[in-house]
Amino acid sequence: MTLRPTRIAYVTGLAVALAAPAALAPVLFAASALAQGEPIAARQEIMKGVGNATRTGVQMIRGEAPFDLDTARETFAVYIDASERMPGLFPEGTETGGDTKAAPAIWEDKEGFDALFVEFGERAAAGLEATTDQASFQAALGTATQSCRTCHEQFRLDN
Ligand code: HEC
Repeated sequence: MTLRPTRIAYVTGLAVALAAPAALAPVLFAASALAQGEPIAARQEIMKGVGNATRTGVQMIRGEAPFDLDTARETFAVYIDASERMPGLFPEGTETGGDTKAAPAIWEDKEGFDALFVEFGERAAAGLEATTDQASFQAALGTATQSCRTCHEQFRLDN
């Protein structure tokens, strides 16, 4: 028997219809888990990137790694990117879960928290501008990384 196009469409449609509920269930489950877990994972991932960039920068300052101007500037680019993306990753409902270290103070003083990211971003932008060699990089990194401590002391748990 040869299948006519309509028959094929029917068979294919049926296969999709039958497969759909089973196939979609895990996807939908993952999507709802993602909706809750994603901002926490995303903000931790961004902060990890900030931590890694900082480590590389410090190694160059200490002479543990050769100084490279582009890599030095990239540090501040990573900071700027983080300062822009981080404030949006603390929606209500992500105060706990996903092994978050975010302090409750964030939701009590979101304005103050966000303001520190603005300051962090401004220091990073100034650092990007000012960095022309190792000495200027060291000075600019010193200023920008004051923001890490200020924020973590107020807004991160387990410091
Ligand atoms: C304005 C606030 C703020 C600034 C500025 C800030 N951080 Fe963070 N950082 C946080 C918060 C909040 C967390 C916890 C996030 C979570 O667990 O949900 C965090 C987490 C981290 C983590 C742990 C990431 C993980 O989960 O593995 C590292 C590393 C880190 N920050 C490094 C830095 C460094 C280095 C700087 C400065 C160059 C910096 N941060 C600047 C708020 C900030």
